[in-house]
Amino acid sequence: MTEPAAGGRFVEAARGVRPFAVDPEVMGRIRPMQARDAEDVARLHHAAMGNSLWARVGRRFLAVLYRVLVDSERFLAFVYEEPVEPGSGRMRVRGFIAGSTDPDAMLRDTFRRAWFLLGPAALPGVLKPSVLRRLAETARYKRVSDAVHLPGPVPAESLFCSFEPDLRGRRVSGHINKVLFDDLLARGHRYVKITTEVDNEGANRQLRSWGFVDCGRFRFYGKDMVTYVLDLEASPRVEPVSRHPAV
Ligand SMILES: CC(C)(COP(=O)(O)OP(=O)(O)OC[C@H]1O[C@@H](n2cnc3c(N)ncnc32)[C@H](O)[C@@H]1OP(=O)(O)O)[C@@H](O)C(=O)NCCC(=O)NCCS
Repeated sequence: MTEPAAGGRFVEAARGVRPFAVDPEVMGRIRPMQARDAEDVARLHHAAMGNSLWARVGRRFLAVLYRVLVDSERFLAFVYEEPVEPGSGRMRVRGFIAGSTDPDAMLRDTFRRAWFLLGPAALPGVLKPSVLRRLAETARYKRVSDAVHLPGPVPAESLFCSFEPDLRGRRVSGHINKVLFDDLLARGHRYVKITTEVDNEGANRQLRSWGFVDCGRFRFYGKDMVTYVLDLEASPRVEPVSRHPAV
């Protein structure tokens, strides 16, 4: 992959990043997402990112989508869980991250493979005019979000990440980022892309603390968006470690 036209921007960003101190207890509560997590992940996704197209189609659709995505070899996702009560063996999912080694190919294959599950789950949602409008706009997503200064093709993407509000700002989410980014590097990806709203304070603060480089702005769903890219090889926080079984 070629170096970015902007030269050492990635190296410079990595230089300002503090190493990431891993808390083994937090790390021990992160595991690969499984089909049984689909309802919890749909709840978390819907609660915090209700504006995303997938959430607008409906919570039932989200649950079915996550259930089928976990079978895709291009889907890379983890959950964070805690005991329901201290000392209890019963665990509750309180945060997640969902990424992909190639979102376009992943979605294409998943819809082809599981259309008979996804279609009926999506139907009530896609008939809403606001969702239809967004679906039409989503066809432009890759074109507009990539129409920035990317360092060559960047197939890997962190698509969604969310934690229950009382866990935010405590670096638990930082741990789940690390797990995803380590895995991507272990699989040979040099860069990871994330898009977020320009006014999403929590996401922007976190991504800047990781050394993500602002590669450009675009408008989507009537909102100002930013495309961030992290050079996984240059990051002092990322190591090539896979904690996800290959499907
Ligand atoms: C986006 C989201 C996942 C970010 O998670 P978070 O819990 O804030 O992230 P973290 O605690 O890991 O860390 C954020 C960084 O900001 C720092 N930080 C946290 N709270 C801070 C505060 N009040 N002031 C200054 N810095 C702060 C942390 O120290 C950390 O820096 P570090 O990595 O150098 O240690 C979380 O806000 C969330 O779930 N939001 C709702 C869903 C969402 O918007 N998802 C993003 C869609 S792209």
